[in-house]
Amino acid sequence: MTLTGKTVVVLGATGQQGGAVAAALRAGGWGVRAVVRDPSGKRARSLSAVGVETVRGDLGDAESLRAAFSGAHGVFSVQPNAGQAGATLTNEDEVRFGAAVAEIAERSGVAHLVYSSAVTAGAPTGVAHLDTKSRIEARVRDLDIASTIIRPAAFMELLVTPGTGLDRGHLSFLMRPDQAMQFIAVRDIGRVVAAVFGSPERYIRRTLEIAGDSLTGDDLAGHLTQAAGRPISYSRLPATPSAQDQVIGRLEALVDDGRLAGHADLDALRAEFPFLLRFDRWLTGPGANLLDQALRASDTAIDPR
Ligand SMILES: NC(=O)c1ccc[n+]([C@@H]2O[C@H](COP(=O)([O-])OP(=O)(O)OC[C@H]3O[C@@H](n4cnc5c(N)ncnc54)[C@H](OP(=O)(O)O)[C@@H]3O)[C@@H](O)[C@H]2O)c1
Repeated sequence: MTLTGKTVVVLGATGQQGGAVAAALRAGGWGVRAVVRDPSGKRARSLSAVGVETVRGDLGDAESLRAAFSGAHGVFSVQPNAGQAGATLTNEDEVRFGAAVAEIAERSGVAHLVYSSAVTAGAPTGVAHLDTKSRIEARVRDLDIASTIIRPAAFMELLVTPGTGLDRGHLSFLMRPDQAMQFIAVRDIGRVVAAVFGSPERYIRRTLEIAGDSLTGDDLAGHLTQAAGRPISYSRLPATPSAQDQVIGRLEALVDDGRLAGHADLDALRAEFPFLLRFDRWLTGPGANLLDQALRASDTAIDPR
């Protein structure tokens, strides 16, 4: 028996956001049912080891979602995105998956759906793999289901991806050295989602943009230098004319016009969610191992899409 007596189904629990959500819900006394493609895989087995129920399922298999959602109080919905490194799905797949989760949750009588979108959602960006989120949000709002939409800022984890050049003492990212962009620790997405499920009266029908820090390129260099104990410099990613770099150029334009830089009210968020980590605390806490790996990794190109 769980503390709340209620079960939340978590999609993507073997990944970053779903993993953080599963951990935070377990810590809060919820029953957690993870829909996994391979229950015998290493990540699924580590979920089982901490008391998460794992069920075989696939975002493209409606019957598996129906079975997983049966009797559940809540569903946490996140989809992979065609812009992620190594992704094999299309933008249409993401939209189809996100809509299917919401539609099946509605038909299954789920009491609360939390959909994880992105900070750029709401108006067209000109970047197809970002605009998928607006389309899924619209479907979620259209349905007769109590829902909360969260729009996480860029992940702090992205800044210490092995192969970003940190091992050579340099980081390149999307903003100019003097330009601020908001970031969030993946761990905190999980904690916010657990808080949302814990206070439905406060969060149903709301769209929350969430972030833990606002950082210029120079801030990144300062915090990384401090945490690494050796100098780390920063420059904006060059947008040269190859196909990927055209995307980088468009993403940088979205930082310049504020859409991707984020506009969450950090003071208000911190009052509501006091656990939200700033980058310096994240680097010496949950991010310390990732930083260590990035400092030791050999260099390949960063892919911030
Ligand atoms: N990076 C950022 O800064 C940022 C910011 C805001 C939003 N986002 C969004 O975050 C989302 C990705 O979240 P994430 O980083 O937590 O994901 P992730 O770590 O890449 O993990 C993806 C998860 O989805 C599961 N999955 C993939 N295909 C599936 C399928 N067909 N059926 C069932 N499960 C499937 C994977 O399971 P397996 O173990 O089976 O592969 C894994 O658990 C994207 O939509 C991205 O746009 C990213």
